[in-house]
Amino acid sequence: MGGPSAEREVSLSTGRGCVDALREAGFSTIEIDAGPDLAERLAEAKPDVVFNALHGRWGEDGCVQGLLEWLRLPYTHSGVLASALAMDKERAKDAFRAEGLPVMESRLATRDEVEAGHVLPPPYVVKPYNEGSSVGVYIVAEGANAPPKLGAEMPERVMVEAFAPGRELTTMVMGERGALGVTDIITDGWYDYDAKYKEGGSRHEVPAAIPAEIGAACRDYAERAHRVIGCRGVTRTDFRWDESRGLDGLVLLEINTQPGMTPTSLVPEQAAWAGIGFPELCTWLVEDASC
Ligand code: DAL
Ligand code: MG
Repeated sequence: MGGPSAEREVSLSTGRGCVDALREAGFSTIEIDAGPDLAERLAEAKPDVVFNALHGRWGEDGCVQGLLEWLRLPYTHSGVLASALAMDKERAKDAFRAEGLPVMESRLATRDEVEAGHVLPPPYVVKPYNEGSSVGVYIVAEGANAPPKLGAEMPERVMVEAFAPGRELTTMVMGERGALGVTDIITDGWYDYDAKYKEGGSRHEVPAAIPAEIGAACRDYAERAHRVIGCRGVTRTDFRWDESRGLDGLVLLEINTQPGMTPTSLVPEQAAWAGIGFPELCTWLVEDASC
């Protein structure tokens, strides 16, 4: 848990939640805040299984997965390639397009290109191609004159994506058990970092009050996204749905290979709705671990 990414605090919260759940399920655990001495710490601890509670760069992008393969330690969630592919939002989209899944038009651009003029007609979104939790997301509104000025946190290469209007829906997939349900995320503004992690920052409705056809499509797309990226364990796929356009208004935003497991997170909540308690979910992940 922890680690040096922009999602460090979220990961600490995920990690603590999972440690509590694993203890409740009867496992003995040690907690490691992933720093530069991670390999030594793991070699010393010699765990049977590593529960990966990291989010963001180095923990969700194949790096730590590579280290765990090297150390021959079974670990939870996706492997090296799937993690790296899912974390690179633009390359993941190529895989989604090849699978016939609906995604918004987008392109990679440099910071200079973005600040020099509109890369796409507004409304559009600028985001790092490799971060999560809405860290460094800029929304350029319809009719905006000026392109955004990007903060220092933004990498040299960013993704510019046509803005997808509508409701925010999400579906978790649990390996061979497939997709569970669909959650509707209701916020006053948009689902930014605070809305994600502050108590009361957003309201979640599970099951989402949506037509059966849209729910079935979310589950189908989430399972196909999980498969085409080659994921393992639990993933969460995020959608936007413009209800005025029916099924054509449903687009896949991204797949998360290390979805949040904090007290306000979507995955534990959707699992609970499906009758799977948090300790049971964490136990399933441990049993699913491999290297
Ligand atoms: N990136 C955050 C942790 C999530 O997907 O839930
Ligand atoms: Mg994400």
